[in-house]
Amino acid sequence: MTTLNQPRLSALVEARYSPRAFAPTALPDGYAALLLEAARRAPSGGNAQPWRFVYAEKTRHPEVFDKLAETLTGNNRIWAPTAPMLVAAFAQDLNAEGKPIGSARYDCGAALAWLTVQAQELGLYVHQMGGFDRQNLVEAFAVPQGFVPVTISAVGYLGHPDSLPEDLRERELSRTGRKPLAEIAFTGSFNS
Ligand SMILES: Cc1cc2nc3c(=O)[nH]c(=O)nc-3n(C[C@H](O)[C@H](O)[C@H](O)COP(=O)(O)O)c2cc1C
Repeated sequence: MTTLNQPRLSALVEARYSPRAFAPTALPDGYAALLLEAARRAPSGGNAQPWRFVYAEKTRHPEVFDKLAETLTGNNRIWAPTAPMLVAAFAQDLNAEGKPIGSARYDCGAALAWLTVQAQELGLYVHQMGGFDRQNLVEAFAVPQGFVPVTISAVGYLGHPDSLPEDLRERELSRTGRKPLAEIAFTGSFNS
């Protein structure tokens, strides 16, 4: 007798969240390349691939890591530098002729989503941050005209919530909610 498996949400999607408590454990050899390879394979409008990444592993590229960490602002400065890897993502808003690439930020987000799912596959977690000093980042890494910083992501293994200051620990232990499906997906016009 054959038994049909119930369709289910991907375990990678189910497990994903954005932690603040990271273990300081370094990534094994080759993991960073796999994450970036997943991002590289994301779809993009006209296959423009309008994304660029500046990344650093703390043990392998300590100076670049510190430069990235120094651009973080607010609470991000407290928890994110414990992670073993930081990745800054840039969208190419203008092509070589100076014409806008309309889907650049969308595509850059898609690449980050692929990187995030690949991270889950490897037992890693990704926490994206918009809280960083854009001007500082652009200057520190000589970002060319036409490229805009989108996020900096902390990547690593889960740490223990007790490693965080109390206010951040409380947030770590309460998962962020989601809007009900009926509020965001419709089969006809909005709200139907
Ligand atoms: C574009 C973007 C910017 C974000 N900026 C920050 C940030 O600066 N600091 C932070 O702690 N989390 C940041 N987050 C994480 C979100 O707060 C988080 O994804 C959201 O609350 C949903 O929680 P979850 O990812 O754990 O499901 C950001 C996420 C995205 C996609």
